[in-house]
Amino acid sequence: MAFDRVWQRQWSSRVCACLMCFFAILLTACNGATLSTVTQDGVYQVRTIHNPDGIGKFYMGREIAQIMGHQGAAWLERPSRTWEEQPDQVIEALHLQPTDVVADIGAGTGYFSFRISPLVFEGKVLAVDVQPEMIDILTMFKEETQTENVEPVLGSDTDPHLSASSVDLALMVDAYHEFEYPREMMEAIAQALKPGGRVALVEYRGENPLIPIKGLHKMTQRQTRQEMAAVGLVWMETQEFLPQQHLMIFQKPIE
Ligand SMILES: C[S@@+](CC[C@H](N)C(=O)[O-])C[C@H]1O[C@@H](n2cnc3c(N)ncnc32)[C@H](O)[C@@H]1O
Repeated sequence: MAFDRVWQRQWSSRVCACLMCFFAILLTACNGATLSTVTQDGVYQVRTIHNPDGIGKFYMGREIAQIMGHQGAAWLERPSRTWEEQPDQVIEALHLQPTDVVADIGAGTGYFSFRISPLVFEGKVLAVDVQPEMIDILTMFKEETQTENVEPVLGSDTDPHLSASSVDLALMVDAYHEFEYPREMMEAIAQALKPGGRVALVEYRGENPLIPIKGLHKMTQRQTRQEMAAVGLVWMETQEFLPQQHLMIFQKPIE
């Protein structure tokens, strides 16, 4: 009899433990479901559950990547970039004129700005970035190399702070996918372009899963063309001579 009672008590405590576990799991699942929200903020969608490399904000179906912090500045100047990203070939493909005003938006340390500067000796390069630390680095390089025609410009998340109809070419290398407000930025850039002015985007190919770059730091042609069309920019061509990136050229209509 005594053995039966002990056995019964053990079983009822096991059933109790199982029920408690079940309710704990149910509660966690319900909490998770409550936390997983999707809200619309203008042209952007904000999701609480998202890729850890992104900011949880989606534009035209694409999640915006986290910004590359200024702590990674040295990585932008790595020697292997010359063959991985072939900057000289990219610049050659832009067919710049000596009088051109080029806006290098998301310039970082000015890896492209200082390479472009000698080609636009009668024009200038506006090297725009949102991180003051990057602007400090750009200013340091400008002084060190005594480059007169590179002008560092501190932009904001929504505005590159460029004058209207003043830019011949807006270049964005590995930068556009991390703009927190891509629609506002591209509207402002389109406004800053002269009629017939061009936008050149260099982005890792999102179509190729074998390219060893985080997914949100790549862009597909289809997505990019869709986002540029949304601000009235017309696709001109895509050049595929780079090992891992697209060079996509768009134009502001002459009207
Ligand atoms: C990966 S780095 C690329 C830098 C440079 N284009 C290069 O190829 O070396 C991207 C840069 O874009 C800048 N950036 C991000 N959002 C920006 C915005 N809305 N306006 C201007 N710069 C921005 C970041 O601060 C960062 O320096």
